[in-house]
Amino acid sequence: MSAGSGELFGADDASAPANMARVDEAPADEAPADEAPADEAPADEAPADETPADETPADVAPASEAPADVAPASEVGGETTHANGARGGEADGSGARGAGAPADGTGGDGARGSGTRGDGTRGDGTRVVHAGVPAAVAGEPFLPSPVFGAPYHLDPVAGPQAGVNGYGRTDNPTYRSLEQAIGELEGGECVVFASGMAAISAVLLSTLRAGDTVVLPSDGYFLTRAFATEHLPARGVEVRTMPTPGPYPALDDVRLLLLETPSNPGLDVCDIADLAARTRAGGGLVAVDNTTPTPLGQRPLDLGADFSVASATKALTGHSDMLLGYVCARDPELIAAIRTWRGRTGGIPGAFEAWLAHRSLGTLDLRLARQTANAAAAAELLAGHPAVASVRWPGRAGDPAYAAAARQMRRIPGVVTFVLADKAAVDRFLTTSDLVFAATSFGGLHSSADRRAQWGDDAPEGLVRLSCGVEDTEDLIADVRRALDAAIA
Ligand SMILES: Cc1ncc(COP(=O)(O)O)c(C=O)c1O
Repeated sequence: MSAGSGELFGADDASAPANMARVDEAPADEAPADEAPADEAPADEAPADETPADETPADVAPASEAPADVAPASEVGGETTHANGARGGEADGSGARGAGAPADGTGGDGARGSGTRGDGTRGDGTRVVHAGVPAAVAGEPFLPSPVFGAPYHLDPVAGPQAGVNGYGRTDNPTYRSLEQAIGELEGGECVVFASGMAAISAVLLSTLRAGDTVVLPSDGYFLTRAFATEHLPARGVEVRTMPTPGPYPALDDVRLLLLETPSNPGLDVCDIADLAARTRAGGGLVAVDNTTPTPLGQRPLDLGADFSVASATKALTGHSDMLLGYVCARDPELIAAIRTWRGRTGGIPGAFEAWLAHRSLGTLDLRLARQTANAAAAAELLAGHPAVASVRWPGRAGDPAYAAAARQMRRIPGVVTFVLADKAAVDRFLTTSDLVFAATSFGGLHSSADRRAQWGDDAPEGLVRLSCGVEDTEDLIADVRRALDAAIA
């Protein structure tokens, strides 16, 4: 396999806290009593939670779909950890290390223990809205504003001190808050990076030494493979590739197995728990690229992986306006090595990006629900359309990855891959569609599609990766149907 090419398919009374102002103690310069609070809806406004009769509820999957909202037995709930939440880490300055994430990653409810279900768990929507958000302090915003600092003031006499921010490459309260949030969702400690590739290369280079062997997907994101084949052999590391669905040979001599499941763009799935057990039995490590599913779709650390690594550029942040990556792990030594790597190489996210990412995270559950519903409808349409030679979506009964995805995943992502006759058919599809942007990313609010062969992927000329956005299902499907009709010569 040459670098840069990819094989497809093989390819929130009485006991208000002392620091909170009481309603009857409003300072003189505050709004008079007869003023309606700014955030109250006037009586004539429709309640926000009413769904018009013609809308498909975003979280209701068609009967044929994989169990998008069913948590596997191995999953542990109650992830939210407000008690020790990420107060911007002003006092820990250590780069802070996912200050609130319990070592076992299982969370446990903090000071605000109410709002849980009878079994103590919280739903995905609650978890993402509150992830990494500090305990309420009167007068403070819900999410601390970004802190822009390169050097911070030092004590002129004591100099650098543990627990005090010193320099921006290793200390920033804003990205520590984001790390707290992602760490809660993945169930481990998180280190954020400037991009997904910065995160992936950190895993590869901080774990592999001369004489080691790394196994990568032959059908996964092509730049991971390109980076490995260009930089690892010269460091004495043997690089092997395997198709995501397997079969996998003996893994006992492997130092690092990097999986990408579902694979991008082929959407094949492999059994993380099985492969992790086999690799760890030989003393190796397992990393899973969790970009496409996000931590709401799949929790690799619960399945036995040592690392969950991802591009947060995609669905996790979901607005197509930033690049970001992260690595999560439970083993303190492994994650310390990753943090040290980042401190030395400097692949940190800017404070604004980190803040924006944290802000975006709150809607992840809602975005994914609509994206999955749209993908389910799109997969059905594609499967029955004469312009389409083949379609892959792991949530569709009959898809080769359906059974494995149903066992392992909590939600199926909004990405669907299909094949049209040739480049000309894809050109007609893309120029006819009003809602599907031609773009090479996925997981965003806007639907987009990408002909993979234009990047040198070892894929059929007519292969398209369709990323379903959050448009109304009815509108998107009508638009895609029209574009598919036009794709027929
Ligand atoms: C599966 C996967 N992993 C990693 C990356 C790299 O992420 P980034 O573009 O944020 O560097 C991508 C980018 O498309 C991807 O699809």
